[in-house]
Order: sequence, then structure tokens, then C-alpha cells
Amino acid sequence: MIVERAYAHVAGHDEGEWPWSVPCVRWLMEEGLRFTAPVTFLVGENGSGKSTLVEALAEGFGLDSWGGSHDWRYATQRGKSVLGERVRFEAATSRGRRMLASRAARKGFFLRAETALDALDREGFAPDAVSHGEGFLAAFRGKFLQPGLYVMDEPEAALSFSSCLELLGHLDQLVKRGGQVICATHSPLLTALPGADIVEVGEHGLRRVAWRDLALVDHWRRYLADPQAYLRHVLD
Ligand SMILES: Nc1ncnc2c1ncn2[C@@H]1O[C@H](COP(=O)(O)OP(=O)(O)OP(=O)(O)O)[C@@H](O)[C@H]1O
Ligand SMILES: [Mg+2]
Repeated sequence: MIVERAYAHVAGHDEGEWPWSVPCVRWLMEEGLRFTAPVTFLVGENGSGKSTLVEALAEGFGLDSWGGSHDWRYATQRGKSVLGERVRFEAATSRGRRMLASRAARKGFFLRAETALDALDREGFAPDAVSHGEGFLAAFRGKFLQPGLYVMDEPEAALSFSSCLELLGHLDQLVKRGGQVICATHSPLLTALPGADIVEVGEHGLRRVAWRDLALVDHWRRYLADPQAYLRHVLD
């Protein structure tokens, strides 16, 4: 692992204003977020604050919030967000301490669905020649190698079932090499990775949940068993 805790100390913020208005951001400021496993999944409803959180964590670690790897920190004109510039980490290991102490030692990648193609283009993955999902897979194969902090926002958006499984294989390899992953997701497949920590983001702030107790897993299980039970509520 690289980091064991993230936190943000902010004084004089307006709680009615984004991002301070988002419950999980207030939780980060009051309690911090502890990482107890090499892979942490953030789950929660649309608008609960997952992207706000993963972007700020990526920025706090020195990754480009537009997406891309540690070497592309200065590739965009985009400054850090008000939250990202205040995020701090506590190291989990001596490797983590080295990375936090020196920008040059910091390794990682931020995969952001909306700008992934642009970021992959900058990384030399020629997205014109490959599909969206193929571009993602090329990045996992070619970039998820060095121990570092890998932050992802809904990677499943571009991936088929079998590609999601392939991604889990890459995450497993990355973790065995000393890497760490923080991933926002709605996927019951990804969150089933053995040993991963699942943190639910919502009105309550942040809390750990077991995979079998996740609402999204329960809904998918029931939907696949009987789609009509759900469809009758939304179709005439
Ligand atoms: N740049 C911004 N300015 C103002 N409000 C924002 C901004 N980005 C997000 N928000 C608001 O912050 C809240 C959390 O949004 P966020 O995108 O983090 O949710 P999310 O959990 O990632 O949702 P989804 O599952 O749909 O991706 C939402 O109410 C959203 O409207
Ligand atoms: Mg999001």
C-alpha cells in the first residue's frame, strides 16, 4: 500500500457552497478517510459525491485531475480544485513516505471516464485507432505496472463484462507489485474483488459496507432474477 489515510483541513468554508456542501467532503474534513486495503471502491447514488472525492484525492496526490499519469501533472492548464489543493495523505509504508516526500518519486494514474480518451491520447495510446473500451484496456495493460496510486472514476462505463474481469486481473497484479487503487464505481462485478474495501458515499458521509450488503448488488440480483418486478414500475 501507499497511503493509509486522506484528510483535508479547511478553515472558513461556506457549507452551503460546493464542494463543502457535499456530505462526504465534510466527512473527509472532519473524520478523514482511512484506507485499510490496497483496493478501495467508492459506491453510492448519482450525485452522492464520488467523483468530487476521487478527483480531489487524485489532485491531492499530484495526479492531473483531467486524467493521466504522474508524468502529465503539468500537461493541462487546469489548476487544482479548492478541495484538491487541501487534500493530504498519511503514508502507509516507506514507499508511500518516499512518494509523499518527493514529486519525482510519485507514481500513479487517474482514469476519468469523461476525459479518458483525451488523456490516453496524451499518453500515446492513439484512441482514434481503438474503441473507448479498447483504449481503457490498453491503458491498464501499459500503464498499471509501477507501484503507485491509481485512481479511477467508473472504469466500467466503457467496459464489457469480460473486460471488467480483465481489469480485476490487472488490479490484482498491481496490488501484488505494491500498488494501491481507489475506484468510484456502480459495478457489482468490480466491487466483488476479494479483499477490497467498499466505502459507501451518501447523506451519512462515508461508511464501510460488505459486498453482500450493498444495495446495488441486491438490486442487480433481483433484477436479473425477475426484470419485470422492476420494469412494471417504470413502463406503462
Ligand atoms: N463543478 C461543480 N460545481 C458545482 N457543483 C458540482 C460540481 N461538480 C459536482 N457538483 C455537485 O456535487 C454533487 C456530487 O457530484 P458528483 O459528480 O461528485 O457525484 P457522483 O457521486 O460522482 O455521481 P455519479 O454517480 O452520477 O457520477 C452533485 O450534487 C453535483 O451536482
Ligand atoms: Mg461521478
